[in-house]
Amino acid sequence: MLSTGPLLLLASLVTYAYSATFNISTTGGNASSPLLYGLMFEDINNSGDGGIHGQLLKNNGFQGDSPGLTGYASVGGTSLSQDTTVNLTTAIQSSLKVSVPSGTTASVGFSNSGYGGVPVNAGTYANYFYIKGNYSGTVTLKLVGSTSGTVFATHDVTVTSSSAAWTYVETSFTASQSPDGSNVWQLLFDGSKVAGSALWFDLVQLFPETYHGRFNGIRNDVGEFLEAIGGSFLRFPGGNNLEGGSPGARWKWNETIGPLENRPGRQGDWSYPNTDALGLMEYLQWCDDMSLTPVLAIWSGLSLGGGIISGTALDPYVDDALNELEFLLGSTSTTYGALRASYGHAAAYDIPYIEIGNEDNLSSGCSTYASRFTAFYDAIHAAYPSIQIIASTSEDSCLPDPLPSGVWTDIHHYLSPSGFVSMFDEFDNYPRTTGYGIFVGEYANTETDSGTQLSWSNVQGAVSEAVYMIGLERNSDLVKLASYAPLLEHFGLAEWSPDLVGLSSAPDSLTGSVSYYVQKLFSNARGDTIRAVSADVDFGPLYWVASSTTGGIWYVKVANYGTDSQNVTVKIPTASGLSGTAALQLLSGSAGTSNGPDAVNVQPANSTLTGSATAGWTFDIPAYGVAVFTASPA
Ligand code: AHR
Repeated sequence: MLSTGPLLLLASLVTYAYSATFNISTTGGNASSPLLYGLMFEDINNSGDGGIHGQLLKNNGFQGDSPGLTGYASVGGTSLSQDTTVNLTTAIQSSLKVSVPSGTTASVGFSNSGYGGVPVNAGTYANYFYIKGNYSGTVTLKLVGSTSGTVFATHDVTVTSSSAAWTYVETSFTASQSPDGSNVWQLLFDGSKVAGSALWFDLVQLFPETYHGRFNGIRNDVGEFLEAIGGSFLRFPGGNNLEGGSPGARWKWNETIGPLENRPGRQGDWSYPNTDALGLMEYLQWCDDMSLTPVLAIWSGLSLGGGIISGTALDPYVDDALNELEFLLGSTSTTYGALRASYGHAAAYDIPYIEIGNEDNLSSGCSTYASRFTAFYDAIHAAYPSIQIIASTSEDSCLPDPLPSGVWTDIHHYLSPSGFVSMFDEFDNYPRTTGYGIFVGEYANTETDSGTQLSWSNVQGAVSEAVYMIGLERNSDLVKLASYAPLLEHFGLAEWSPDLVGLSSAPDSLTGSVSYYVQKLFSNARGDTIRAVSADVDFGPLYWVASSTTGGIWYVKVANYGTDSQNVTVKIPTASGLSGTAALQLLSGSAGTSNGPDAVNVQPANSTLTGSATAGWTFDIPAYGVAVFTASPA
């Protein structure tokens, strides 16, 4: 007697705690932001140069603070130096001098080892370089295993060059597959013709297949991997990398456009040089090709090194932002619109969103941001009233009071798993002011609950992000945009972790983190209306959101942030015309499991459920799991 009562009670509690039924309403609901999920990109972790950008050779324009001979090595006894007396242009201020010892008879030259090796895959490579010095003969371009010496490509091109001017060479060749990423690119010439003298080279460039076949484009494999996320927007070019270590070192739009020969590059904020070959127009090409809406960040007067420009000293920078917008939006009869046309893009771009600065609540920026923001806002809004302007912080104390009507604000979260779960209802009670919106411009689980920094996202953290994203989606009348950050890292060259995607120079190295798969699941299952759900359990450890499309597709996203499996039934009792089968995508794993270099341990699994709208569809979500349920018309 004594034991029966509590046991029965326990049994009923257990049953209740481990199952849930969701009844989805087919009436009412909130319109969801059509752009909710997107991508945030800046060159961090060699995610631009050495990452998504197609150009594979390092230090090809001797840019940044102290380029030296990084990436280069002699082949065949030449001696190499960075020659600051022989420049390609006023932007590319030095070149590679290749001195050939007297008496040389062999084929000699130099190599470049790329970013942690040159990725060599079976396929076509485009190769460009500048040469100066007296030479007439064959130049051989090779892709070679660094230690194996295996030649994966060799290609001869006939070159006639002189010491009077630079000669530009462009060619292409095919390569066979290298087993690894430990490869170099070589440029060789007939040493007997240069013995006792030298040749100069500059802007050597090697491209694999590019996304949409673009000249100076992004890598096709990386582009396709990111496209699969299904994002709607691209925030660029930063992030901290917008800001500069000093005002003079900020990202300057006008130094990232036009011929590469005119782009000086800069020392990026993440302690390596940026070539800026991935420049303003390349970002917008990426947007066009991936159907992403640009969210363009402009410099707000704040630099990371503490240099802040405010007051009337900011005026030239406001003018510079207007020039940038004239370049992007102006007719071809304007100065900068004409410049854009001269670079091959006569049509104006579409720039619907501009963010003023990055994290102006930090780096001592708060006290001046209201006035700095206002200076940019007033000028841009007057000239382009239809552009949606976003402030780089949501902290009231850093913003103008009142905030101009219609301005949105950005908020960033790098949190522990518990931190994200506690933020599930962050926006539930946020004031809804007409025209106001939130951009969660950066978020990621970066540490465990006990404070250990993560190198790579794990299942618990990714599920906690899913919980948070469910909260965002439930509030996507207010939350307009959200992007995980950072997007990409080159393994071994990362300053910041975790990152959504990683790669190295090795074949098939592109790796989606567990968070990547959560982003992909959520982004590709978006309704336009968020629907009310009546549930027989409270939030925690299960979290959910339901939505539908005008085409009659129903989505239910569920995160199980608990250590027990949960049995879930989804009913849409008043829906008609739905198929009896529904699709389920399920991601789960043990809490600490990660995907990393050469190890994809966690990916979603797909299955088909049988049921009906009224009787429901039932499935289990394991501990630390994320499910996306899809019911479609019959
Ligand atoms: O995403 C990495 C960095 O985190 C961004 O550059 C910056 O905006 C934030 O502090």
